[in-house]
Amino acid sequence: MTVDRVADVRASRRIVFQGLGALGVAVALAGCAGGEGGSDKEVAAGTVLTTTDQVPVGGGVVLVDAKVVVTQPTEGDFKAFTAICTHQGLLVGEVENGVIHCDNHGSEFDYATGQVTQGPASQPLATVDIEVKGDKILKA
Ligand code: FES
Repeated sequence: MTVDRVADVRASRRIVFQGLGALGVAVALAGCAGGEGGSDKEVAAGTVLTTTDQVPVGGGVVLVDAKVVVTQPTEGDFKAFTAICTHQGLLVGEVENGVIHCDNHGSEFDYATGQVTQGPASQPLATVDIEVKGDKILKA
């Protein structure tokens, strides 16, 4: 093999490895995009999230697929928030005793307002607009 040919082979290997490096970054980014619960795709307006009988008065439900928490602090008054904790972006766990718990690191959020009642999260859960039609609760 001539000196020029050796240089060509080394250059080719470098290009292949650079390409693999870029592919690895793309795969890693794709793996992060879904977060804990899968896709980060937002639920479309008009989608039925749940039904009113699934949301207890004085409690709530965490809808894992939609990544939405629906609560009912007082009878007939439904609220909805993102289920993605503002601390590290993981899904919150459950609604209990007037708060939405994030079991990952212990943050708690008021189930009527989404405001932080206990850290480490420092930002409230964002409100999700909903519409109640009959017994269905839809994303607005
Ligand atoms: S992700 Fe919720 S408390 Fe850390």
